[in-house]
Amino acid sequence: MEVKTSLLDNMIGVGDMVLLEPLNEDSFIVNLRNRFDHNEIYTYIGSVVISMNPYRSLPIYTPQKVEEYRNRNFYELSPHIYALADEAYRSLRDQDKDQCILITGESGAGKTEASKLVMSYVAAVCGKGQEVNKVKEQLLQSNPVLEAFGNAKTMRNDNSSRFGKYMDIEFDFKGDPLGGVISNYLLEKSRVCKQPRGERNFHIFYQLLSGASDDTLMKLKLDRDFSKYNYLSLDSANVNGLDDAASFRTVRNAMQIVGFMEAEVQSVLELVAAVLKLGNIEFKPESRVNGFDESRVKDKNDLKEMCELLGIEQSVLERAFSYRTVEAKMEKMSTTLNVAQAYYARDALAKNLYSRLFSWLVTRINESIKAQAKTRHKVMGVLDIYGFEIFEEGDNSFEQFIINYCNEKLQQIFIELTLREEQEEYIREDIEWTNIEYFNNAIICDLIENNQNGILAMLDEECLRPGTVTDDTFLDKLNTICAEHQHFESRLNKNSKFLTDHSLPHSCFRIQHYAGKVLYRVEGFVDKNNDLLYRDLSQAMYKATHSLMRQLFPEGNPAKVNLKRPPTAGFQFKASVGVLMKNLQTKNPNYIRCIKPNDKKVAHIFTDSLVCHQVRYLGLVENVRVRRAGYAFRQPYESCLERYKMLCKKTWPHWRGPARDGVEVLLTDCSVPTEEFAYGRSKIFIRNPRTLFTLEERRRACLEDLATLIQKIYRGWKSRTHFLLLKKSQVVVAAWYRRYAQQNKYQKIKSATLVMQSFVRGWKARNILRQLKYEKRCKEAVTTIAAYWHGTQARMELRRLKTEARNKRAVSVIWAYWQGTKARRELRHLKVAAREKHAVSVIWAGWQGTKARRELRRLKEEARRKHAVAIIWAYWLGLQVRREYRKFFRANAGKKIYDFTIQRIMQKYFLGLKTTTMSPMDNTWPAKPYGFLEGAHTQLRRIFHLWRCKKYRGQFTEEKKAVYEEKLEASEIFKDKKALYPSSVSQPFKGDYLEIQKNPKYQKLNSAMEEKVLLADLVNKINRANGKGSPRLFLLTKSNFVLADQKTGQVKASVPLPDLASVSVSTQSDGFFALKLKEGSASASKGDFLLSSEHLIEIITKLHRIGTTAADRDQINIDISDEFLVQFKQDKVCVKFIQGGPKNGNSAACKRKNNRLLEVSVPSP
Ligand SMILES: Nc1ncnc2c1ncn2[C@@H]1O[C@H](COP(=O)(O)OP(=O)(O)O)[C@@H](O)[C@H]1O
Ligand SMILES: [Mg+2]
Repeated sequence: MEVKTSLLDNMIGVGDMVLLEPLNEDSFIVNLRNRFDHNEIYTYIGSVVISMNPYRSLPIYTPQKVEEYRNRNFYELSPHIYALADEAYRSLRDQDKDQCILITGESGAGKTEASKLVMSYVAAVCGKGQEVNKVKEQLLQSNPVLEAFGNAKTMRNDNSSRFGKYMDIEFDFKGDPLGGVISNYLLEKSRVCKQPRGERNFHIFYQLLSGASDDTLMKLKLDRDFSKYNYLSLDSANVNGLDDAASFRTVRNAMQIVGFMEAEVQSVLELVAAVLKLGNIEFKPESRVNGFDESRVKDKNDLKEMCELLGIEQSVLERAFSYRTVEAKMEKMSTTLNVAQAYYARDALAKNLYSRLFSWLVTRINESIKAQAKTRHKVMGVLDIYGFEIFEEGDNSFEQFIINYCNEKLQQIFIELTLREEQEEYIREDIEWTNIEYFNNAIICDLIENNQNGILAMLDEECLRPGTVTDDTFLDKLNTICAEHQHFESRLNKNSKFLTDHSLPHSCFRIQHYAGKVLYRVEGFVDKNNDLLYRDLSQAMYKATHSLMRQLFPEGNPAKVNLKRPPTAGFQFKASVGVLMKNLQTKNPNYIRCIKPNDKKVAHIFTDSLVCHQVRYLGLVENVRVRRAGYAFRQPYESCLERYKMLCKKTWPHWRGPARDGVEVLLTDCSVPTEEFAYGRSKIFIRNPRTLFTLEERRRACLEDLATLIQKIYRGWKSRTHFLLLKKSQVVVAAWYRRYAQQNKYQKIKSATLVMQSFVRGWKARNILRQLKYEKRCKEAVTTIAAYWHGTQARMELRRLKTEARNKRAVSVIWAYWQGTKARRELRHLKVAAREKHAVSVIWAGWQGTKARRELRRLKEEARRKHAVAIIWAYWLGLQVRREYRKFFRANAGKKIYDFTIQRIMQKYFLGLKTTTMSPMDNTWPAKPYGFLEGAHTQLRRIFHLWRCKKYRGQFTEEKKAVYEEKLEASEIFKDKKALYPSSVSQPFKGDYLEIQKNPKYQKLNSAMEEKVLLADLVNKINRANGKGSPRLFLLTKSNFVLADQKTGQVKASVPLPDLASVSVSTQSDGFFALKLKEGSASASKGDFLLSSEHLIEIITKLHRIGTTAADRDQINIDISDEFLVQFKQDKVCVKFIQGGPKNGNSAACKRKNNRLLEVSVPSP
């Protein structure tokens, strides 16, 4: 929602003077002061902005501020120059009204700053785009160029504009800038030759001398020292807070952006330099025969340099400073110039040159910034014209007169337009108009510009009049013609009123301007108005080869001699002011009235008297009165209703109907007396500020109540929303929990059921089995019982028969026997029968058993099937539940994400492994990134290591392999056994240290060797007599070692390797070793060798290697101990190694202790 604010919010004093109560000059000043003290430098009078110069930078021009004021109504926010710029820009863009912004005020009041603020605001809010931005940039960058050439430090302002400037900015229908046109008014050119005390010449001179490179200065024939130039005032050459050198760079850059060619810039600087040079030309008198003095150039150096710079023939210029040609009606006369006239001519030339250069710059800038498109433009004009100027002690001259005239005209247009606007608004709104009293300065304008008897007209008349014309004759003329005018005062007036006024000198006249009385010294009026430049000089300038110079002096062209006088300065100015006024009248005016709070150019000081003076002559209080005549305050109905609708129940919170009716209802409800307001067409007019303030007061009170109400409703709403949210969450949580509990319960019941089911099934199966078993047993029992019974029967029969037989013995024995036989036979039959019967019952029982087992199997099968069904059912249920579950949790997406994540992790992991090097020595391996990769990670590391070892081995040549094998062997022999070993690891085994093949010194020795030399080195042979060493050459081949003299190369000893029994070395870092020979061998007679070598490790390793590779001999033993025996001829000598102090130096030393002991002291490590 857009926040509606108003000018009336948080006001300091009143933001709009129209609301001032009571309205008088004192309260006006008090309000300005109050606001100024609170950093509120802008105050409105209706739509006019009053701007107080803060003399310090305030944080109110930020891009945020621009945004704040953009597209807001004028009275919506606190007063600001941006509000005025926005209003002007919008009515230009949206209502198609051309605008002008009139900025007035004293010198130093902040007009130029204000005009820049307006331009920068418009640039910030209008359209964007490459083309548009370029136009904007060119328009903005025209400022530094014009300021450098047209501004100067004065007593009132360190950056005072010494020319008037009106700039039309042109826009297309969308409001995008198309270009602009600048008009300049009356540059104060007298400043070029002479500056008042404490003031400076135009900035560009100082900027050029301080900022140009040495090279540029040399080309321009200039010197960096200001004091070398007559035209530069010295007392204030350096101004605090102005960095001339930096400004020079800014100006050059701006010229480039605006579109100046490099050559043009150079030409401009050459003319600036020429002006400085011109100032240094001095003259001396030379007596002539006719008794008159004629002027001559004193020191021709500057003249020469200037002529070189501009390409002028020196003699031509020199002559122009000494003679003057007067032409009249086909006649030419040459007169000489005296020294004073020569100086006058020189200064006139300098002034003309500079002011024409300035006009050329403006034209050139206009060429660059002019709008390209031919469509109709909308125009916004910004007028920054020199403010009213009054110097103390009557030091006001022609320039001040002209400036003040211009300000009178502006005041005139201000009065006209404000009144007209006010009146038009009343008519538009259908409100009755009441006449207002105010001072109209038209009478003063008339005094100056009237064509018959205006001051300017009389000055022109005087200048053109034949005969002697002086400033005094001009004053006389004024005294006669303007005597009656109520705003003209002069001592020699016919009007006796001023005869005794000593504040009015005889050579002065005084005008009562609307802004106060100003005393003008008449001296120089005629000259300045004539603005005479001798034709000889302009012709000399035209002869220059410098093309810009020729352009500036077109009247010097002999082909276009014009005998007519050029228009006077006053005439030209009046005409251009006339054009300007006409131009302004067609546009919608916006006023910025600048006020200077103090004369010291400092912040925080507010001088009441000074401000009061400005307020008075700007007619500001009158301006408020006009604005308030009848009604002090007006506001469109909509905004009024929006602001005060809470004061009445009927309009709050919404009024449905026309805003005007709403306001009517509202005001009636608030019982505001009817005479206090009037209803216009679109606005409500309030007569008295008091009424407005009462409404404001009531609004404030009402807003507090409303705030409480809003707060109450908001709190209720917030609590209810919170409660509903809690309730909703609770229902969701409960539903989830219930589902979870039911799921658990169901799972428990299901598993219990399964257990019970299996128990019951088991129990049933066992019952059936038991029954079947019982039946089987019954059948078996029956068979057995039957068999027993048959047996018993047979026996009983037998017994009876036996008894019968015994009883019937008498019958016949044969019978008996026969009977016996019969019985036995019978018995046999019975037995067979019985046996058959038994077999039948056994088969029966077996068949019954088979049937029972079959039954049991079937039952078991069934039980298993049912169990399987139950399991399948359980799985199917599980599947159902998971499917249900999946609906909620998008199991599929989860899987994809999972797969993708794993893929990415693996990818990243494998890429991460790339960092490992190929060196087998490299032990590093990235830390495992994830726990689940642990197995693969260690495996990969092992595989990778094996692979790179393989790669590494693959590069080895045979020789290299042999070298490494040797190194390996050395390690097997010495590692951790001899302290010398570690230092040898890094040394390559070179073998032939003596380079015996190549070195001619050893040629003989080499040829004596029968086999390839595996090692050749310099060793020390230790003398047993004193323990000293003497150098020997030590050579080793596959079958023997040789010791030779170092100098002659003569072989001293050659020992076949099979004769070598063992080698002894110490455990320490020394190089001593003993070669012990086999007892009884041919070489043993000379005794063992005690040697020392730097390459001990290599020698021993090579010896050992030969031992291992040769098949025909034993391995050579290597003893490592700190004490061993050496056989020297007959004696055995003990060699003992001790750790000596470092005093022995770095190498071990051997010393004979006694006949049987050699002591080697090895430096401790
Ligand atoms: N709005 C402002 N904020 C800060 N400083 C300002 C402002 N307006 C003017 N000034 C100061 O006052 C000096 C004079 O202002 P300027 O616009 O050159 O005066 P004028 O053109 O009226 O002679 C500036 O150089 C600047 O230091
Ligand atoms: Mg200015």
